[in-house]
Amino acid sequence: MVNELNSTDFSPLANPPYHVGIIMDGNGRWAEANGKSRYQGHQAGTDNLQRILEDSIEFGVKMLTIYAFSTENWRRSTYEIKGLMAILESVIDRRLAELSRKGIQIRHLGELDKLEATLRKKILYGMESTKHNDKLILNVAFNYGGRSEIVQAVKRVIQDSILPDQITEELLSRYMYTAGSPDPDLIIRTSGEFRTSNFLIWQAAYAEYYITPTYWPDFSKAEYYQTLSEFSQRDRRYGGRK
Ligand code: FPP
Repeated sequence: MVNELNSTDFSPLANPPYHVGIIMDGNGRWAEANGKSRYQGHQAGTDNLQRILEDSIEFGVKMLTIYAFSTENWRRSTYEIKGLMAILESVIDRRLAELSRKGIQIRHLGELDKLEATLRKKILYGMESTKHNDKLILNVAFNYGGRSEIVQAVKRVIQDSILPDQITEELLSRYMYTAGSPDPDLIIRTSGEFRTSNFLIWQAAYAEYYITPTYWPDFSKAEYYQTLSEFSQRDRRYGGRK
């Protein structure tokens, strides 16, 4: 299975997905299995994310959307929430220059207003200072929920006095946080849960899914490569027939 993958042959993929979404699940279970704290699990997940960003560039993925903090994650302990906020802040403080050198453009998806001012400013700075990079667009879904994204879209449509006849799927897409971006081609979920968990529920209507039992910190370059290769073989019919 996954652990038996040949990790040395990463020949170029003929048809890599343009936009990949990742639900980085299993940090807590990884921590428990390795005798570490949940905070250390999230840190290990962050280190793995850094590797996956490099692999994404190598494998020809152009856009990556990561689910880093959901609107439901506010139900976790204050300690864990603070830890996740601190991890994002420290990534911006310590790794932003390196990410930018690699050509990564950072965007944010979700409700910025509800985050603390310091973190909010750092996210905005991260977006502004990388906006001309074009090797990989990294959408960070942080304080993001798919349903709340649709609700904010509907509110803005009404504020803009759009008439019922003018409402189309295409128009609503322009009111989502992902306005102007192509829909995800592939969504990867680690740690074996078969749920969408409110992630890109509008945009993922025709996405392919890949679910693996691997915990996020252990999701390797070899498994990522295998996932993308398998995606290249899939027959995407978008509801039609060949
Ligand atoms: C799910 O694992 C993971 C999260 C809720 C957080 C993911 C966040 C990171 C990897 C931090 C990196 C983010 C950025 C933007 C630097 P879980 O805690 O639900 O795991 P469990 O289900 O095993 O408990």
